Amino acid sequence: MREIKDSFAYLSPIGLEHKLESEIEVLEKFDRLYLSKTEPKDVFWAQNIWLEPKIVKISSINEAARFLRSLQKNWALFPYKSVRRSMLISAELPKIFKQPIIFPTILPPIDLGSFTLLDDETLLFSQKCSSKFPNGEVVFQGQKIGPPSRAYLKLWEVFTILQTMPKKNDRCLEVGASPGSWSYVLANLGVNLTSVDKAPLELDLKKYPNITFLKKDFFSITPKEMGRQDWIFSDVIVYPEKLFEWLELWKNDCDNFICTLKFQKDEHDFMIKNFAKIENSFIYHLFHNKHELTWVKLKNVQS
Ligand SMILES: C[S@@+](CC[C@H](N)C(=O)[O-])C[C@H]1O[C@@H](n2cnc3c(N)ncnc32)[C@H](O)[C@@H]1O
Repeated sequence: MREIKDSFAYLSPIGLEHKLESEIEVLEKFDRLYLSKTEPKDVFWAQNIWLEPKIVKISSINEAARFLRSLQKNWALFPYKSVRRSMLISAELPKIFKQPIIFPTILPPIDLGSFTLLDDETLLFSQKCSSKFPNGEVVFQGQKIGPPSRAYLKLWEVFTILQTMPKKNDRCLEVGASPGSWSYVLANLGVNLTSVDKAPLELDLKKYPNITFLKKDFFSITPKEMGRQDWIFSDVIVYPEKLFEWLELWKNDCDNFICTLKFQKDEHDFMIKNFAKIENSFIYHLFHNKHELTWVKLKNVQS
């Protein structure tokens, strides 16, 4: 077995390879899986990180499956080369938990490893990975009626990976809330929600007495006007610099934050590091994020 010393394998989200390539030094590339010595703390555009990649030579499907099973129970395949052979190895391994998952769900405390074949006889694998989901793909059983768009999947995903969410009656402020999918998720948690947008919500507000809708520019919303909040949510399409400035106003008046950072143009990428430097905060590229990242700051840090 060969350890790939001080290296990590980064799996890029589909179509965002250029973003990942811009932040790592690439040693080798296997489709959208990259070997690199760049530290995970400096990498934000990865869907899964193989934290301890190793290489081993195998002579048969049975031998590969036996070897992986001897290390741990749960493995996810990233299909790259010798795909049929790697699928036969996967079929010899215990089934991993069922997807799509139903929200909310308690994540089982399992270690999920990842593996791929580089050729018929070369197995690249990692017992430890950053994501508890196969290839970082968090697939939900969707909600056909209720939320006005698919954006609710981002909030479901972030609550699932954090294994935390607002409690009933928590004071929540959501800016850029229209058409209202995040508001739908939050209102159904029983929180006390103020939703702000210049455009109306496409939700029947009579059904949700716990939503107060303000038709406003969110930049004018201040802690003085709104009072202390337990959570602030933003999925607004705005330059990260502007959002950062507005969040500064709230640093002493809100405990928890979940904000999408939108990066349609690369020249705003420098702001990622500024957000990452904020204490007790994390940045994820969610499976349901596109050209955007999700910044999270929690009062009670769990991970
Ligand atoms: C991507 S959508 C939000 C989707 C929402 N999270 C959902 O789940 O339905 C972004 C929203 O931000 C709003 N927005 C953009 N700039 C704003 C501003 N300065 N003040 C208030 N709303 C704004 C837009 O009107 C738009 O409805």
